[in-house]
Amino acid sequence: MKILGIESSCDETAAAVVEDGTRILSSVIASQVEIHARYGGVVPEVASRQHILSIIPVIQKAMEDAYAGWEDIDGIAVTIGPGLAGSLLVGASTAKAIAGVKGLPLIGVNHLEAHIYANWLAEEEPVFPLLCLIVSGGHSDLVLMKGHGDYIMLGRTRDDAAGEAFDKAARIMGLGYPGGPAIDKASENGKPCIDLPHSWIKGTNDFSFSGIKTYLQKMNEDGKINKEDIADLAASFQNAVVDVLVGKTIEAALQYDVRQILLSGGVSANRMLRRRIVEKSHVPVLIPKPVFCTDNAAMVASCGYFHLITGRISNLDVDVVPGLKLV
Ligand code: KG4
Ligand code: ZN
Repeated sequence: MKILGIESSCDETAAAVVEDGTRILSSVIASQVEIHARYGGVVPEVASRQHILSIIPVIQKAMEDAYAGWEDIDGIAVTIGPGLAGSLLVGASTAKAIAGVKGLPLIGVNHLEAHIYANWLAEEEPVFPLLCLIVSGGHSDLVLMKGHGDYIMLGRTRDDAAGEAFDKAARIMGLGYPGGPAIDKASENGKPCIDLPHSWIKGTNDFSFSGIKTYLQKMNEDGKINKEDIADLAASFQNAVVDVLVGKTIEAALQYDVRQILLSGGVSANRMLRRRIVEKSHVPVLIPKPVFCTDNAAMVASCGYFHLITGRISNLDVDVVPGLKLV
């Protein structure tokens, strides 16, 4: 069964064809990162206009790369939330139009659920029950998954998401946008020798990352951030965030006796996080290839497949939901 996936929730226009939820036949991503970099973050109106320009060529390329015609496609999966309303509308309207004209099932997908399904695109298939850490620009969630579509939210961030913290910290350090990859790179030449606050919030599976950002802001205002120390500061920040993410994930994995840990979302492209969770975990850890950690449409197609085979499809009048929750 071949699904065309479409993703446009933020600043990546993406389309992909995936077979049986696991085999990637094509994956095309048009990134707007350079356009938004000059503003230091995603500008919603600019993002939607850019999606309008890119969406058709990106879908055409995904179909060509997969050597697929419309007669080969069994369903259209599209992200309907969470995300920027204007951006989501471009992908959703395009998907509805194709599904309507070609008479194909439409599958509206939650972006966070799609991030989890990036783990079905690798060689080793995930085994339930599993614990998934979703760490993206807008979310830091710990989710217990007992089967397809079966989610229990164990913890989430009480303020900033991990990716948001990376982006804000990078801005304070003058490392530019997007902050996650910039801090990951700057850390290569630094040591985690600067003492920064680790926010454990004992007794819960929740996270909090606004304290460390405020701490850096205060350091900056007090003139305590020197150019020569940036690599060490980046390494120390990354170490503090990764420490908490790994510590809390492993604690929850033990508490709920899961068989595997899955990582997903843009921050799981972080090299220190990937290394450290594998070193510390008592159960196998699955992490998508970096390109499938950040926004892409192959994960949307995979998620759509598992919806379709269990009859979970959408009507053509489905709306986008910018604040859509996983559970
Ligand atoms: O999942 P994603 O592509 O988009 C959302 O759904 O939000 O995640 C984007 C986030 C950004 O905050 C970005 O800075 C962060 O993921 N990110 C990273 C890395 N690559 C992307 N954070 C840390 N290290 C990285 N290598
Ligand atoms: Zn995302």
